[in-house]
Amino acid sequence: MTLERKVAIVTGGARGQGEAEATLLARKGACVLIADVLTDEGRLLAEKLRNAGMHARFVELDVSDPDSWRAAVAVAQEWKGRIDILVNNAGIINRSIVANTSLAAWERVLKVNLTGAFLGIQAVAPYMAEHGDGSIINISSNSGFSGHYDPAYTASKWGLRGLTRSAAMEYASKGIRVNSVCPGLVVTELNAKSPHLQPMIDMTPMKRSAAPEEIAELVCFLASSASSFITGEDFVIDGGFTAGAAYRRVATETGILS
Ligand SMILES: NC(=O)c1ccc[n+]([C@@H]2O[C@H](COP(=O)([O-])OP(=O)(O)OC[C@H]3O[C@@H](n4cnc5c(N)ncnc54)[C@H](O)[C@@H]3O)[C@@H](O)[C@H]2O)c1
Repeated sequence: MTLERKVAIVTGGARGQGEAEATLLARKGACVLIADVLTDEGRLLAEKLRNAGMHARFVELDVSDPDSWRAAVAVAQEWKGRIDILVNNAGIINRSIVANTSLAAWERVLKVNLTGAFLGIQAVAPYMAEHGDGSIINISSNSGFSGHYDPAYTASKWGLRGLTRSAAMEYASKGIRVNSVCPGLVVTELNAKSPHLQPMIDMTPMKRSAAPEEIAELVCFLASSASSFITGEDFVIDGGFTAGAAYRRVATETGILS
């Protein structure tokens, strides 16, 4: 799989899964624009990739701000004159139940996680359409398939799946594919202090969390021509959690499975 001559924007690309996605895309030959609110981390990563012989650049981007998107897209256009891949990866968590979630916190999560991806698609798709080819990957979550103890986060991740399908229908005839990636637990700064890590690992049939690089492999597949007839789909990557972790636990507790 090669991504030579492709130009990618990875939002939230300065650390965590976004860092792994930006790195693997660049290693496979893409020119990667790392777009994040974390300027120091983003600049350092771009420099690290360039020092390793890859094509990378940093741009400051707040995904919740349309003007910020316009500026980031202008940088990509000025840098390479095209955009082929958009990874809407930036995300935040609220970690608060319905009863304790303020309206401001609810709106903030939806604005970054869901509106951010919507604005990204709006900003980037016209440039992909110019050359009739593009791949947009929205990083949802396996909590986009179930109820979860963080309702704002969960709603944003369900919403991303709906946005993915709607945009896929709209842009299919223009050669732009839109898919979502739905990871299970990946230990990053997003959740490093969460008390739920070990219980989540225990519930996961494969008994571990994902490495960010495993998520990045799926993103690269969806970014590449290896997935050229796939659009409007959700790709769960969670060690079997969504497939049946609850029933597996029952089967384990009753001695059917070990
Ligand atoms: N970690 C997990 O277990 C897990 C599981 C499923 C899905 N996800 C999703 O994966 C994505 C990446 O998360 P992560 O685990 O790498 O977390 P992370 O906190 O390490 O990375 C998130 C990145 O998004 C950036 N970001 C936040 N707000 C932004 C904004 N307004 N504009 C631009 N960038 C912004 C952050 O600066 C950071 O670099 C998120 O969408 C998250 O919801 C994470």
